[in-house]
Amino acid sequence: MRCPKCLLCLSALLTLLGLKVYIEWTSESRLSKAYWGPRGMAPGPTPASPEPTLPANLSARLGQTGPLLSAYWNQQQWQLGSLPRGDSTEPGGCRAWGAAAAAQIPDFASYPTDLQRFLLSAACRSFPQWRPGSGRGQVASCSGTDVPYLLLAVKSEPGHFEERQAVRETWGSPAPGVRLLFLLGSPEGEGGPDLSSLVTWESHRYSDLLLWDFLDVPFNQTLKDLLLLAWLGRHCPGVSFILQTRDDAFVHTPALLDHLQALPPSWARGLYLGEVFTQAKPFRKPGGPYYVPKSFFKGGYPAYASGGGYVIAGRLAPWLLQAAARVAPFPFDDVYTGLCFRALGLAPRDHKGFLTAWPADRTADPCTLRDLLLAQPLSPQNSIRLWKQLQDPKLQC
Ligand SMILES: *[C@@H]1O[C@H](CO)[C@@H](O)[C@H](O)[C@H]1NC(C)=O
Ligand SMILES: *[C@@H]1O[C@H](CO)[C@@H](O)[C@H](O)[C@H]1NC(C)=O
Repeated sequence: MRCPKCLLCLSALLTLLGLKVYIEWTSESRLSKAYWGPRGMAPGPTPASPEPTLPANLSARLGQTGPLLSAYWNQQQWQLGSLPRGDSTEPGGCRAWGAAAAAQIPDFASYPTDLQRFLLSAACRSFPQWRPGSGRGQVASCSGTDVPYLLLAVKSEPGHFEERQAVRETWGSPAPGVRLLFLLGSPEGEGGPDLSSLVTWESHRYSDLLLWDFLDVPFNQTLKDLLLLAWLGRHCPGVSFILQTRDDAFVHTPALLDHLQALPPSWARGLYLGEVFTQAKPFRKPGGPYYVPKSFFKGGYPAYASGGGYVIAGRLAPWLLQAAARVAPFPFDDVYTGLCFRALGLAPRDHKGFLTAWPADRTADPCTLRDLLLAQPLSPQNSIRLWKQLQDPKLQC
């Protein structure tokens, strides 16, 4: 042993080299999981049915084993043929459905006001578009030659001018095959400022606002999903994928496009992709934000993708509308979408690149975001800064 120090040095060097190789390997496989999930993986067992179906009796699909008279949703769903189509208080009309709910739920009077209001009008789902005067600023239909590959459908609300502008300047900026639409309720509000003229100006300027004449409140968000699906059926039936998201999300659009283009066709056909919750249960604490009374709903939620952002296959739009006509109303839009997918026999696919409870202390880091497809929530300021950093070819991670 002539040079024990040399030997020590050599082994330290080798260890370091090994460590470097290991780190690169793991971070690469992490990256490829975030971007290319399905491409790198061996095809898993094919699900029983990759195609949607809607059986005449949905009870078994929805995991119902009997009439549960003590919970209104469960009881309604057990006996529901289809929801009323008529827009009235007549028997069989949508308002009559709400009035019956109020009369039959014993502790209805103790429900939070927004849940009461939701139930009274929950079966009413056809609302006219809110037209920004003079016919200009209408959202154009897709032309035969210009059918988007990916529609970014962003739930916003009339007062969120700043959020919308940040989306237009960042991840929603024009790109081949991508179309951006904001989904809003009426800007006339209720007991708030009337934003009609500002929203009308904005609509004329950008032609990317789809507005409907209903009150834009959290428990009315399912209306945006359903009215968008109906609008697509009439004006843009060929769209390949729809990203359903919110105006405080940050989407790494190029990475999302890469990911969608790499999907095996059999997955893409029934796609429902996002951050999936499989074991979620209703919150039972009165006064909490997602409180659900026991007299309204019993059981666990179906597996569903977080409403912060998820992608569905465009071809499922008519299927989802058919399912929604037969799934009893539920106040949370993302849980309701999960119920409709379950009714169709399609399961959500989880993707680690969707983070919808983005921790506030990590917003500063473009390197973390580079490996993700979607993060939410982010402020408009952070979105703009991050988008710039991600475009920078000198970005070192
Ligand atoms: C629907 O299916 C459930 C469970 O499979 C069954 O118990 C129930 O009787 C069926 N209802 C009707 C109306 O056929
Ligand atoms: C949803 O909008 C409709 C139509 O404007 C309204 O009647 C209903 O009360 C709203 N829902 C809630 C929960 O406020």
